Amino acid sequence: MPISAVRHVRKMRGGAQGQLLEADDGHWYVVKFRNNPQHPRVLINELVAAALLDYLKIAVPPTALVRVEPEFLRANPEMQFTIGGKPVPVQPGWHFGSRYPGDPARTPVYDYLPDALLDSVANLADFRAILVFDQWVSNIDGRQSVFYRARVRRENSGPGSAAFIARMIDHGFAFNGPNWTFIDSPHQGLYPRHSVYASVRSEEDFEPWLGQVVHFPEEVIDRAWKSIPPNWIEGEEAALEELLERLYERRAEVPRLIECCRQSRSNPFPNWR
Ligand SMILES: Nc1ncnc2c1ncn2[C@@H]1O[C@H](COP(=O)(O)OP(=O)(O)O)[C@@H](O)[C@H]1O
Ligand SMILES: [Mg+2]
Repeated sequence: MPISAVRHVRKMRGGAQGQLLEADDGHWYVVKFRNNPQHPRVLINELVAAALLDYLKIAVPPTALVRVEPEFLRANPEMQFTIGGKPVPVQPGWHFGSRYPGDPARTPVYDYLPDALLDSVANLADFRAILVFDQWVSNIDGRQSVFYRARVRRENSGPGSAAFIARMIDHGFAFNGPNWTFIDSPHQGLYPRHSVYASVRSEEDFEPWLGQVVHFPEEVIDRAWKSIPPNWIEGEEAALEELLERLYERRAEVPRLIECCRQSRSNPFPNWR
């Protein structure tokens, strides 16, 4: 559902210089803008990744296209980037939003957790899942996640108890960022804290995601393409088509790429022998 920004909250850290905005659907979004300091393709990468991740059911925040009207920009002078020390205004139009998990005034969200808390995250399996994804799409950025506390129901237990949940974010540098190429590297997608992979004992521990990627349906890739506003890809149609074709062909490589992570000097899976 297309939504519009109604209130500015604050600037976020990060190279894309996104901003936290409240939208008219009653949610808050970290919004990355079309004319961000990185590259317009970063937004296409985010949208394509969102469609692929939705199919793989990996824990990511819901995403949306967020409209920013000229009046909103006039009323919020903070809506600008700093590029080379100079202010550059955000352009009106459609941008990419990643939903904040709740009301930012009441829900703290963390970029990092200390080790003791990281081990208790309710969905550590998602770090294995997203590694499969990052290797497939050649995400050259370090693996990033946000954490927040929520009630979770664990199997065979009564009412839920509070625990930290991880949500995978920042897919602007999938597809080797604005280059739209694929590079194989055993370091891509690895979370810097390898304790999240402690349960990995064999390739089986990357299922069902490995199998789902190897047999990834073409229709879902087509759907990803169709989710992009046409004016974002004007003049880029051929390059995008080629990128997605190569992504499709690359599916079969992913089990080998995971094996390369294991073989790498810094074997991140100490319990996989
Ligand atoms: N859905 C989200 N919920 C809460 N915080 C988020 C969300 N998405 C991004 N952030 C925050 O915004 C920062 C910048 O987002 P990120 O996607 O990493 O952009 P960049 O490409 O600039 O690194 C993150 O470090 C994180 O703190
Ligand atoms: Mg980031």
